[in-house]
Amino acid sequence: MSSQQIPEDNLPVVQETAHGAVEGTADPFADPGLPAHKPRIQDLDERAANRSERAVAFMFVLSMLSTVGFIASYVIFPVDKIVFIWPFGHVSALNFSLGLTLGFALFFIGAGAVHWARTLMSDVEVAAERHPIEAPAEVKAQVLADFKAGAEESAIGRRKLIRTTMFGALALVPLAGVVLLRDLGPLPEKKLRTTMWAKGKLLVNMNTGQPLRPEHVAVGSLTFAKPEGLEDDAHDFLSQIAKAALMIVRIEPDDIKDKRQRDWAHEGIVAFSKICTHVGCPISLYEQQTHHVLCPCHQSTFDLSDGARVIFGPAGHALPQLRIGVNSEGNLEALGDFDEPVGPSFWERG
Ligand code: FES
Repeated sequence: MSSQQIPEDNLPVVQETAHGAVEGTADPFADPGLPAHKPRIQDLDERAANRSERAVAFMFVLSMLSTVGFIASYVIFPVDKIVFIWPFGHVSALNFSLGLTLGFALFFIGAGAVHWARTLMSDVEVAAERHPIEAPAEVKAQVLADFKAGAEESAIGRRKLIRTTMFGALALVPLAGVVLLRDLGPLPEKKLRTTMWAKGKLLVNMNTGQPLRPEHVAVGSLTFAKPEGLEDDAHDFLSQIAKAALMIVRIEPDDIKDKRQRDWAHEGIVAFSKICTHVGCPISLYEQQTHHVLCPCHQSTFDLSDGARVIFGPAGHALPQLRIGVNSEGNLEALGDFDEPVGPSFWERG
């Protein structure tokens, strides 16, 4: 034992009070030093309390009006309208209005709640004991009773005007989020399922821009085609060609195994979508002997002599075929649109 250690038997015995203070010393919780409670005007005058109630309700109503203004902004202001607002300069009218109205909607809920708490809820300060950490059952019961008393003193049960307007404001604010769904853009509707191809639309060589004729399609070559009228500098060229691009090959009619494919061809000339059904890469590699085409992205391989079915790789289904014929001028033409969506089929087949 070192000279500083005290034998256990000689340690002073200390006793804690219920408040955690050591017996014989001043109890720090007996008087936490809270100032004397001064009643507010609303505690003494019911008319003042009613005025405060109306002020709180007014703020909640302003919040509701602001939310309605937020929703109305979407209807009133076009997306591209620019206005000058001092001191911000030139700003988007829609964005400015949305920010302002949503800001007011949230601000007035907060302001109403603060004013309610400051003027009408109980302002009696209480000191909470911290010892022992786990409160005995009677203290828990007391806390529960205090909580209920607090709820009662908040007057939410009695002040029906506040309660109704507060619930109204809180119920309307989430509508702002619903309106924001509009920013996701218009629904694609049928745009993903249809292409520019239609009955009578000429097949145009993608490289030369000239209408294709049967004599232009030689056995063993792979020709790429686009619909007549789709110019390379059109504003929607990329979105249209991404769906309408075609591969044209000529196969000996006797080599075509699929009957429907033969019916949809013209003298062995078949037209299939150039867009891979895996994740949409353009297909470009053709193997003349086997009539296989290969997608360079993940090596999906399709047999053009057998309905363009998948014979290798991750693609989920065959390439869609376009039914073609020849018009009175001898040009190859479409006899309708594809009968199923082209490209990746996750929106269709899951
Ligand atoms: S995109 Fe063609 S195989 Fe993946």
